[in-house]
Amino acid sequence: MANTPLLKVDSVGIQFGGLKAVSGVNVELYHGELVGLIGPNGAGKTTFFNLLTGVYVPTEGHIFLNDEKLNGLVPYQITRKGISRTFQNIRLFGDLSVLDNVKVAYHSLAKHSIVSSILRLPSHFSGEREMEKKAIEFLKIFKLDKLKDEMAKNLPYGQQRRLEIARALAAHPKLLLLDEPAAGMNPQETKELMELIAFIRKEFNLTILLIEHDMPLVMGVCERIYVLDHGQLIAHGSPEEIRNNPKVIEAYLGEEVL
Ligand SMILES: Nc1ncnc2c1ncn2[C@@H]1O[C@H](COP(=O)(O)OP(=O)(O)OP(=O)(O)O)[C@@H](O)[C@H]1O
Ligand SMILES: [Mg+2]
Repeated sequence: MANTPLLKVDSVGIQFGGLKAVSGVNVELYHGELVGLIGPNGAGKTTFFNLLTGVYVPTEGHIFLNDEKLNGLVPYQITRKGISRTFQNIRLFGDLSVLDNVKVAYHSLAKHSIVSSILRLPSHFSGEREMEKKAIEFLKIFKLDKLKDEMAKNLPYGQQRRLEIARALAAHPKLLLLDEPAAGMNPQETKELMELIAFIRKEFNLTILLIEHDMPLVMGVCERIYVLDHGQLIAHGSPEEIRNNPKVIEAYLGEEVL
């Protein structure tokens, strides 16, 4: 149904000791949307992603993907349900090749069994070949195919960020969570990355939630924006509404980002 949200977050929160890192957050994302999540440092943005992906279990509220409750599922189960992410601090297997970093994502979803791979049955090898072909297709989209045998740790920073997105996509997500994907990139790399995000969103029929500190950038690509401050949602609306919202301006006071 067109008006059923893909993701519904209902009054979700988590408390660490005395600190409510996220509290009473309501978010709804619909199929095909590109939505921004912003807020000052320490606002709870990454913690929110950790709640959506099962790294943390919410101490309040509920999370639904396509009406199915996700609370209590562990990260790999949530990946299988259709949520993939990238990390604020890049997490690649540095000593593995670029290609293997993407193949790892396939292995987590692979249908062929461990038994068939131990016994080296034909189904295992055809599965591997198929996986490799698909992984290379993803690398092409990110212009990383020529670097497929390079160790991930040897790639320049911008390419490592792109590889992380390629790996997240390889798990066939419905919802892709990007945690500051442009951090550390130069303006040209950032521009190309945003074009790439717009492309993969269409190509893979994705819904995307984007955490990003660069305000003009978020305002330029996102249709809607949620704003977190001290763990609570303080605003939600179009870029124009957010830019003019007094609570948002106050939260960012002194940062000169709007
Ligand atoms: N595992 C944890 N234990 C205790 N406190 C935590 C934990 N994880 C996060 N926090 C706290 O929760 C708050 C929100 O942190 P979070 O990393 O989510 O912010 P953020 O909005 O992503 O900030 P930034 O823009 O700097 O990335 C911070 O005060 C942080 O110290
Ligand atoms: Mg963060």
